[in-house]
Amino acid sequence: MTATELRQKYLDFFRSKNHAVIRSASLLPENDATVLFNTAGMQPLVPYLLGEKHPGGARLASAQKCVRTDDIDEVGDETHHTFFEMMGNWSLGDYFKDESIAWSWELLTSPEWLNLDPKLLAVSVFEGDKDAPFDEESFNLWRSLGVPVERIAKLPKKNNWWGPAGATGPCGPDTEIFYWTGDINEVPSSFNDDHEKWVEIWNNVFMQYNKQADGSFELLSQQNVDTGLGLERVTAVLNHCDNYQTDLFKNIISKIEELSGKKYNDSNEIKKAMRVIADHVKASTMIIGDEKGVAPSNTDQGYIVRRLLRRAMRFARQLEINKTNWLKELAMAVINDYEKIYPELRTNENFVYLELDKEEEKFSRTLEKGLLEFNKLGGASIDGVSAFNLYQSYGFPLEITEELAKEKGMTVDKKGFDLELEKHQELSRTASAGKFKGGLADNSEETTKLHTAAHLLLAALRRVLGEGVTQKGSNITAERLRFDFSYPEKMTSEQVTEVEKLVNQAISDKLEVGCEELSLDEAKNTGAMGVFDSKYGEKVKVYTAGINNEESPSKWEGVFSREICGGPHVKNTGELGHFKIQKEESSSSGVRRIKAILE
Ligand code: SER
Repeated sequence: MTATELRQKYLDFFRSKNHAVIRSASLLPENDATVLFNTAGMQPLVPYLLGEKHPGGARLASAQKCVRTDDIDEVGDETHHTFFEMMGNWSLGDYFKDESIAWSWELLTSPEWLNLDPKLLAVSVFEGDKDAPFDEESFNLWRSLGVPVERIAKLPKKNNWWGPAGATGPCGPDTEIFYWTGDINEVPSSFNDDHEKWVEIWNNVFMQYNKQADGSFELLSQQNVDTGLGLERVTAVLNHCDNYQTDLFKNIISKIEELSGKKYNDSNEIKKAMRVIADHVKASTMIIGDEKGVAPSNTDQGYIVRRLLRRAMRFARQLEINKTNWLKELAMAVINDYEKIYPELRTNENFVYLELDKEEEKFSRTLEKGLLEFNKLGGASIDGVSAFNLYQSYGFPLEITEELAKEKGMTVDKKGFDLELEKHQELSRTASAGKFKGGLADNSEETTKLHTAAHLLLAALRRVLGEGVTQKGSNITAERLRFDFSYPEKMTSEQVTEVEKLVNQAISDKLEVGCEELSLDEAKNTGAMGVFDSKYGEKVKVYTAGINNEESPSKWEGVFSREICGGPHVKNTGELGHFKIQKEESSSSGVRRIKAILE
């Protein structure tokens, strides 16, 4: 079974169970400053798991683009990736354990669907602790489907609990499904999750709790289901091969073989280099080619792309890939493979190629010299100043230096490097490790206010700079708003002042902020801003800031802003305080960036 078939079957199955198949959200989270990328299918759905209504209804399914960078160093083995796709189905306060478990079993074992042999499956359920009881219901449901007691493990929170993705948020006990990857004549009668041949393939989380900041678990207002099936891993498991031998990597690896004149199976070293290159170039293509695409840079997501590409380039040198613009050639293979499911890649392909060429040009100039410099370093440990010099003068991300050091049996003084970095204040703090770990939308009052301010800002920009301005991305923390928009040149200080003035006028006018659910066509007819290629088919939420005249037939008068958006927003612009633009700068070509605060 190919990944393409598995993805399709998964979505078709849940469509047949009345789920709306929603398109993958952007890799870059909306209004969530705690993470740089979406790391699980549930992440863009957090507001809905917490009780907001989703326009697609209460049953959803998707293939979600995800990037996780915690394990970037592990990429190179059989199973780790930075970019991966998470298949998932969700109940937002609709069905619960009963249907969830029965449907998972049906999809996996029914001859009409995946047709896996039930004898090769085992499951685990939550054994219970002080926070939540033993999940007897799931246990009994598995029994009723014919799973023998010896194949149902009862395990603690460490194994059978998922979430929250950050410090607080939705979470709950889960039940996990395992597949026997060993010899089918040697399948043990009982299940032991430590056995490496039993591999987890699907995780059904029963999200009924909201973890509080004080560590306690409160019941959510609704009982949700959140499931996750990693497409790369499950395809490999079902085919008894490594992840890089599935159809999700085949063409990319062939292209690397062609570029390098070497074969994947030539040696373990070559295999590792090819995996790193395949994974990292794919992830970079996905991030740059995302609907909110980001170019390589020295901050935030842009720095992740830079690190991925530079690490790929270092391994390409090992494979003696000497062709220029090879990154672009590889990206073409990625886009060919994925354009059907993620059409934004084709739309943004020229931007991807341009940025890859630029980054390749830039780093190939210094990589060689940096390696010479590195080879001069001796001793057991590389001090912070030297590591920083490699970073600053030759563009070596810390992990390249660390990796090179490891190969020579040396270590790197990371603390010393960080100290140097801080001194030079070159790099946004956010790009350093801690921030890549999971996290959840921060729906605090401040971020909600800034979110509404972002709508006013877009409306004001369009008034001052023209209707050609569209939103290219936003990132909100409790302290500030960062807003990217399309505009070809630097704004004049008069334009900046004018935009500020308009936003502050909308605030002092105390406009009401209201939400309506409309069909996509209706939304379009009201002139709402937003993404119109939604596949929900159902309703979208439209937020309007204006004067709401309940008596009048058209209801809204003096509309200042109107956008398709998931929310949340303040009720009245009067709550926002004073709006101030701190900075207007270039973000990437044709895209400007504004940093603003509310004071
Ligand atoms: N959130 C869970 C996971 O990532 C299930 O989707 O595994």
